[in-house]
Amino acid sequence: MEETFEIALTVNGVHRTARAPARRLLSDLLRHDLGLTGTHVGCEHGVCGCCTVLLDGDPVRSCLMFAVTAAGHEITTVEGLAGPDGAMSPVQRAFRECHGLQCGFCTPGFLCTVTALLRETPRPTDEEVVEGISGNLCRCTGYQNIVKAVHRAAELLEES
Ligand code: FES
Ligand code: FES
Repeated sequence: MEETFEIALTVNGVHRTARAPARRLLSDLLRHDLGLTGTHVGCEHGVCGCCTVLLDGDPVRSCLMFAVTAAGHEITTVEGLAGPDGAMSPVQRAFRECHGLQCGFCTPGFLCTVTALLRETPRPTDEEVVEGISGNLCRCTGYQNIVKAVHRAAELLEES
């Protein structure tokens, strides 16, 4: 029988533990062990960015990371972006307002990436937005409304 390990980490501000084999991917731990299915899995090869979550505030591809290496760290998934009262974050509101999604499969990854991007660069240029989201693939939108949504989110964050 495969050996399992107790993995303790903070997810969306809540202390969580799970037992998992050493090779369990962080994406699988989040989705299957912790029931946080908002994190999507597309390519499982680090290419599409769908599985992006924040690790101590920085975007990481959870399909490329073993869950054990996230032990002791703070993870934020798309479920943790809304406020404590359930109100959508400025980035989420901007994506809705600007129609930055269609099927929505890529959206959780984009929301996490953009949240971190705007923390680092509160007023990005078009080029900085395109560069910032270049690790996230979307098959539906053509990106134009996503770029608009990032600028709108920057405005909303400034107002908040
Ligand atoms: S599922 Fe992780 S990058 Fe595609
Ligand atoms: S909205 Fe469908 S993949 Fe991005």
